[in-house]
Amino acid sequence: MPVSYNREMSVYHAIYQRRTAWKFKDEPVSRSAIERMLDAAVWVPNHRMTEPWRFFVSEKGSEMRLNIGKLAYDTTFERTGDEKRSINSYEKIIGPPYLICLYAIPGEDEVSTQENYASVCCAGQNISLAGTAEGLSVAWDTGGACRNPNLKQVLGADEDWIMVTMLLIGVPGERPSSRRNPVSKWVEWSALESEKLTM
Ligand SMILES: Cc1cc2nc3c(=O)[nH]c(=O)nc-3n(C[C@H](O)[C@H](O)[C@H](O)COP(=O)(O)O)c2cc1C
Repeated sequence: MPVSYNREMSVYHAIYQRRTAWKFKDEPVSRSAIERMLDAAVWVPNHRMTEPWRFFVSEKGSEMRLNIGKLAYDTTFERTGDEKRSINSYEKIIGPPYLICLYAIPGEDEVSTQENYASVCCAGQNISLAGTAEGLSVAWDTGGACRNPNLKQVLGADEDWIMVTMLLIGVPGERPSSRRNPVSKWVEWSALESEKLTM
């Protein structure tokens, strides 16, 4: 089985293999792959078991997808007045085989709202990693369409839900490079004296 499609892939392999691709091959994605990814999403930690995630899944060509695309067009046009950029925004949304709008529900106070949001971000990452094992790219898009005030109404989301991201999903048609600083740059260790001697 090729590494790019391996549901037995190790977690570490998926973490390092995952990349954000914006170009997708003109290949269909099976609904069962998306269902497996969604199932993986809800196995993230969530404090007080609030299950704070809400998903809106739209297939390419569906009426919902076209409506989200129109919102993307409007958002860019209102901001820039540039028709070409607005068409690009529309095409970015309508192109991928699957698009998931991911929301977090608010908690009963600020802390639990924050915890819910954090948990839904974890759910998004589980979708990304499971997608990698399925041979798919999952691109996080928090661009203009996410903040369009009409989006919740178009989807049927509650007004007080918190938009986390849109996920654009398909078979990657590119493998962009990515980089990180060595993690040691960001870490402070508090080690036992005996451990310090061996480090
Ligand atoms: C919360 C979040 C929001 C993002 N929103 C956007 C976005 O609106 N547009 C975009 O081009 N990339 C977006 N990205 C993707 C990042 O640009 C991408 O992860 C980064 O370039 C690193 O590439 P890699 O994922 O391949 O390592 C987002 C990522 C996260 C986690």
